Amino acid sequence: NPVGTDLIAEINRLRKERNAVILAHYYQRPELQDLADFVGDSLELSRKAAETDADVIAFCGVKFMAETAKILSPDKIVVLPDMEAGCSLEDSCPPEKFAAFRERHPDHIALTYINCSTEVKALSDIIVTSSSAETILSQIPADQKIIFGPDRHLGGYLSRKFNREMLLWPGVCIVHEAFSERELLKLKAEHPDAPVAAHPECPPHIIDHADYVGSTSGILNFAKTFPGDTLIVATEPHIIHQMEKALPEKTFIGAPGADGNCNCNICPYMALNTLEKLYTALRDLEPRIEIEESLRLKAKQSLDRMLDMAS
Ligand code: 13P
Ligand code: SF4
Repeated sequence: NPVGTDLIAEINRLRKERNAVILAHYYQRPELQDLADFVGDSLELSRKAAETDADVIAFCGVKFMAETAKILSPDKIVVLPDMEAGCSLEDSCPPEKFAAFRERHPDHIALTYINCSTEVKALSDIIVTSSSAETILSQIPADQKIIFGPDRHLGGYLSRKFNREMLLWPGVCIVHEAFSERELLKLKAEHPDAPVAAHPECPPHIIDHADYVGSTSGILNFAKTFPGDTLIVATEPHIIHQMEKALPEKTFIGAPGADGNCNCNICPYMALNTLEKLYTALRDLEPRIEIEESLRLKAKQSLDRMLDMAS
């Protein structure tokens, strides 16, 4: 196998040869973000996957994202560099249990975070991402009862912001759950003028200290426009790569975990993808996402509703 610059040259050669597009999420390793044709948040990546005219989508992200690409672009070959790249939110919500939960609440619609399996998408009415959730929720009539899953922190945040009760599935993101309020307060005391930007997957004791709450793209926009010179970033720290590229003169500090640094908040699933695995995925067109057609069509309905309502 090639190494270093040869590896990048080989990936570029294969990308052309395969007519492949490389999509990457902001939580990917910097070298993968830099190689990608497009880097974005979950909604932007879904849109790109739906629109692309490439023959192959190499998805540098986690499995539910690559599955979303396949649901929306079934004729493309979708490869994920490491098939073990899952998500704690998806794991928290087995389809059988979610189906039983829905049956216990037949008068509720299921508004479901995109961080879930294809099966759970197929059991849902409308999918949301962190960047589209508020726009979509505001279009649902006030008397409509709602189940929100699987992220109870995003659900709780929406519930508080819209003053609207929702039945919450008890899932969490292990990355955002790991931020420490005590360490964040210490960091704020050291940088009293630095605002805090947080992802809504953070628990309320972190959100309470945030000056801005939004999706990864929202946080990146905030980083590009806030007036100061230092920003505390309460989300997966690989996004800081894009901030440092866009604003090299400013300082971005990852919010700390209980050990006082931000490395414990690296997403272990996202980190499974590497340059080497991207190279072999493009070379072998494996590991490949495959979804049974009737399941895909069911899941597509709730995703299409999101794409319609989000725009
Ligand atoms: P967004 O990029 O849509 O904000 O999602 C964050 C996330 O945790 C993805 O796993
Ligand atoms: Fe899942 Fe959290 Fe990792 Fe995103 S950061 S993939 S929500 S575990």
